[in-house]
Order: sequence, then structure tokens, then C-alpha cells
Amino acid sequence: MLIPPPLSLYVHLPWCVRKCPYCDFNSHQGKGELPFGEYVDALLRDLDFDLPLVWGRTVQTVFFGGGTPSLFPPQHIDRFLQEASARLRFAPGCEITLETNPGTAEHGRFEEYRKAGVNRISFGIQSFDDGSLQRLGRIHDSHEAEAAVKLAQDAGFDNFNLDLMYALPQQTLAMAENDLQRAFALQPAHISHYQLTLEPNTVYFARPPKGIPDDDAAWDMQEHCQALLADAGYAQYEVSAYARPGRQCAHNLNYWRFGDYLGIGAGAHGKITLGSEQTILRRWKIKHPTAYLAAAGTPQAIGGDDRIDAARRPFEFMLNALRLREGFTLAGFEATTDLPESAIAAPLQQAFANGWLERDGDRIVPTELGRRFTNDAVELFL
Ligand SMILES: C[S@@+](CC[C@H](N)C(=O)[O-])C[C@H]1O[C@@H](n2cnc3c(N)ncnc32)[C@H](O)[C@@H]1O
Ligand code: SF4
Repeated sequence: MLIPPPLSLYVHLPWCVRKCPYCDFNSHQGKGELPFGEYVDALLRDLDFDLPLVWGRTVQTVFFGGGTPSLFPPQHIDRFLQEASARLRFAPGCEITLETNPGTAEHGRFEEYRKAGVNRISFGIQSFDDGSLQRLGRIHDSHEAEAAVKLAQDAGFDNFNLDLMYALPQQTLAMAENDLQRAFALQPAHISHYQLTLEPNTVYFARPPKGIPDDDAAWDMQEHCQALLADAGYAQYEVSAYARPGRQCAHNLNYWRFGDYLGIGAGAHGKITLGSEQTILRRWKIKHPTAYLAAAGTPQAIGGDDRIDAARRPFEFMLNALRLREGFTLAGFEATTDLPESAIAAPLQQAFANGWLERDGDRIVPTELGRRFTNDAVELFL
């Protein structure tokens, strides 16, 4: 029996002030007046369309991602949350995160987001070095980043994340360390520390910037930064995610634990366990905001539906679980995939033999070596 795991709601808000040259997210430079109200109407039609997939279930977390969700004035976020909570039960204490670009922070807005129900902010800081920020095409400088965080703190947000990237063009180890020191000074609950990757279909991919640190230099940065984060009280719980005790991102944890999520908004992806059909459905929405605005709430807004058959489930499960320090339990594997543990016995033995996974009580966790070879370990389960 497939037992539906916890349910999250992902909401994609697709516009940005300017497209960053390294970014391959479904984000579009907004031109002129943006249709915020119409977009919220479209989100609600989209939600209504997907509701039969999750009848009776409770939403544990909500995440407004982008794009730049903080471009949306608070009254639109408020209306969406009110209407959504009239359609779906939100768990008490439901984590509600809003991604924020520091260049869009305005006095008074964070108070309004809080009143609307947002209780976690994720800032796209990237770096505190002004030269790096310029090279990354960011719309903010380091002082604006610090000022934005302080505005949120003054509005009562103590649960906030800072996104930083490392292995940036012309970045030295000292610069990467300095970015972390400036971050620590703001006392975030959580830090996401991503290695810059050159993604196809970006300006950086077509014309790589000068001075990107090579693999050895990037590895050095990661090791040094990991140690600094640990010393400052941020425990790594996923490849790029570090948190103070009890401050892990519940929304992302649910993805990595192979939980379910509804994905609404342009280009949003969802994954839902359908008890009635005993299958797992992946559904994504069409990407372009204009086309999405017109089609939301109809079958034309579905970019694709894909049922994950039993043969693919071990790989899909491991793709998430092996990113986590906590690994997984065989009981969790069986409950979320409806497969017996014998389905993964051979690749599991291989991963143990390679020294990539080990047992820790009833958990199976990546070893230090395994964390260097996450992709190879996942491929064993293909
Ligand atoms: C959707 S963006 C977050 C919020 C907002 N749009 C912003 O940039 O301020 C999510 C995060 O992904 C990270 N990211 C984006 N592109 C990346 C890339 N090519 N390599 C590594 N990290 C990347 C950045 O740290 C970014 O803040
Ligand atoms: S602001 Fe964020 S989502 Fe928008 S283009 Fe830049 S990195 Fe991508």
C-alpha cells in the first residue's frame, strides 16, 4: 500500500526585476505594470483544478518561490493565503516561506507579509562583496542586503535564511570566508550555501565569465566553509543546507524525504501520491507567465503528467534521500514507494561495499566518502 506522506504547497511567482546571467529558474524580467491580481486569480484557479488530487489532506508547509516573490505587494500574498486556506486545511504552525530579493525590500512590507501569515523569509543574498554582486548582475549591493535583513528582523522575523553562492568569478578563499562572516553577523537561522553552476540556457553558459575557480579551488572553499559553518553553530543537514538546531527548512526537508507537494503557478512542479490509483503522479504546469495566465484552471495549463512506475521509484527516492545527512529508513522507503526492501538489496549492498553508505541504528546514511560521490551513489539505483 502506498501511504501518502506529508503534503506541502509550492507556489511559483515568475517575475524578477532583471534576469541574472547565471539563473536557469523559470524567471522572467517584468515589463511595465505586473498583473499581480490576475496572477493570484490564476493561482487560485490552478489550485482548484488540482484540489481533487489531495482531498482531505492537510498542508504542512507553503513555499512562495521564484522568480522574485517579494515583488508581489503583501495584499496579494494575503489574498492568496486566505483563499488557499479556505480550500485546504493548513496544519497549526504551518511553515510559510517567501523568497525575497534584497533589492525589492521596502520599509513596512515585512510587517504586512507577517500579518498575511508568512513566518519565514529566504533572502537571495549570493555574496556580500560588491564586485561579486556586480559581476553576478544583482540589483542590490551588500549594504542594501544587510539593510533588507534588518528590516525583516525589525518586523519580527527571526526565522530567516540567507542564500549564498561560492566559487564565484574571481572569488578567492578569503572572499568566500568573508561572505560567511558577514552572514553570521546577521544571525540567520539558516544558510543555504550553493556552488555556482553554469546551467545550459543561461548567459554564463554561453559566455563563461573569467576567473571561475577550478574544481580543486571550489572543493577547498567548500571544505573551509563547511568547517566555518559548523563552528558558528550551523549543522549541515543536506548538500547545500545548514541550520541552527530546530531551524531546518521543513518545506525542503519534505521534498528530500520524498514527501508530496502540490505545485501551482507557471512552470511549477508537483508530486502527489494517489492512494486511490496506488500510483505517484508528477505534474508540472506550462512555463510562460502569459500563457499560464490564460490557461490556469484548465487542462491546457498542464505541461505534463507522469506516473512514476515501480521500476523508477528507487532512483527517484534516492535522488532525494541521499542528499540528506540523516539518510533514510527502510520502513520510510517501503511506505513512500510501496516497494519491498528487496527491490534495492543489490544496489544497497554495492553502496555499502563502496563505502558510500553505512548503517546508523535503523537508518542508512551517506558516509563522508559517499557525500563526495552523491551522484554516483544515486546512479546505482537507476
Ligand atoms: C529562485 S532563487 C531565490 C530568490 C531570488 N530570486 C533571488 O535571487 O534573490 C534561489 C537561489 O538559487 C541559487 N541559484 C540560482 N542560480 C544558481 C546557479 N546557477 N548556481 C548555484 N546557485 C544558484 C541562488 O542562491 C538563489 O538565491
Ligand atoms: S533574481 Fe533570483 S530568480 Fe530572478 S533571475 Fe536572479 S537568481 Fe533568478
